[in-house]
Amino acid sequence: MEPKASIRGLPVYKPGKPLEEVRREFGLSEVIKLASNENPFGCSPKVWPALGKIKEQFHIYPEGLAPDLREKLAHHLETDPERIIFGNGSDEIIQMIGRAYLELGSESVMADLTFPRYETATRIEGAKPVKVPLKDGVHDLQAMLGAITDQTRIVWICNPNNPTGTIVSYEELSRFLDQVPDHVLVVVDEAYYEYVTDSEYPNTLSLLDYNPQIIVLRTFSKIYGLAAFRVGYGVAHPDVVRELNRVREPFNVSRLAQQAAIAALDDEPFILYCRNQNRLGIKQITEQLDEWNLHYYPPSGNFILLDTTMPADDVYQELLQQGIIVRSGAALGFPSYIRVTVGNEEQNKRFLYAFRKLLEMKGKISANA
Ligand SMILES: Cc1ncc(COP(=O)(O)O)c(C=O)c1O
Repeated sequence: MEPKASIRGLPVYKPGKPLEEVRREFGLSEVIKLASNENPFGCSPKVWPALGKIKEQFHIYPEGLAPDLREKLAHHLETDPERIIFGNGSDEIIQMIGRAYLELGSESVMADLTFPRYETATRIEGAKPVKVPLKDGVHDLQAMLGAITDQTRIVWICNPNNPTGTIVSYEELSRFLDQVPDHVLVVVDEAYYEYVTDSEYPNTLSLLDYNPQIIVLRTFSKIYGLAAFRVGYGVAHPDVVRELNRVREPFNVSRLAQQAAIAALDDEPFILYCRNQNRLGIKQITEQLDEWNLHYYPPSGNFILLDTTMPADDVYQELLQQGIIVRSGAALGFPSYIRVTVGNEEQNKRFLYAFRKLLEMKGKISANA
């Protein structure tokens, strides 16, 4: 038996190491995971009681179009419910976009380096990924424009970009959109949207009104703290939503996930709290990195890509042994960098303490730095 040619050799996604595994492997009592950009504050306390309300309906399939969540979210975003599509995480919407718009011979343009699921979704369909180098860690939209051909169907813009955490501004994005040819769908992945405080950050949804070729992706996995439920969404012109619905699995978002997301949307103070804590956490970490003179990309999400000046896999292993799981940049294309999720104050302190010890041990800083 042979699988289809397009998936031969495709890498299998490697998630961040689970807490339990590290605890067992190194016999540690406490382990913290700063590897997958999850919310260290969990989710809104309103979620749990809301789930109990649907316990009589566990045997009934969920509503495929998630009507209650759709209404609620449309109101929250001040958009039309017809413009929204839900996915089993925004990961699934990325896959749906590939399914609906790519085929053998077509191309999709993405940054080099960016969120790897764009490339995977492209390759699965037998299409060609066209990668455009980042410029100082930021999407080079002019060069991406130059990479568009008659075969291009999609341009992926990850904003903030994972793993660098950088953003493209409203100015840059709207200039880019003005020049993108009509046959191209522009995917703007805003998984970390709610964390961004930079005033230059685009309100991409407002651009949708007069630009039907954009789809904006967001998720309940990050600031809403619902990664385990798997619910993300896309906002696009109803024509694009219609095409994506053709390839959507009929019951792709579970009843529990829909209910959790509805409850989470009701707790705006929780989101504001997490956003503020995240900014304080970024300050806590970057001030220390500045003191140590280590390079990092300007972080706009809830993670920091920083240069350890050592082989990243070694740093990852050393931190792991001290009960701290980060992401090695080696697999992300940054061999001396690690990507660290911003944790709560105590977690950040523990990370900085462990990292300091390592820097001292390797002679990168002196013991009293
Ligand atoms: C840029 C980006 N897009 C999409 C996702 C997928 O999120 P979800 O949990 O909604 O599938 C992630 C997750 O890390 C991400 O970083």
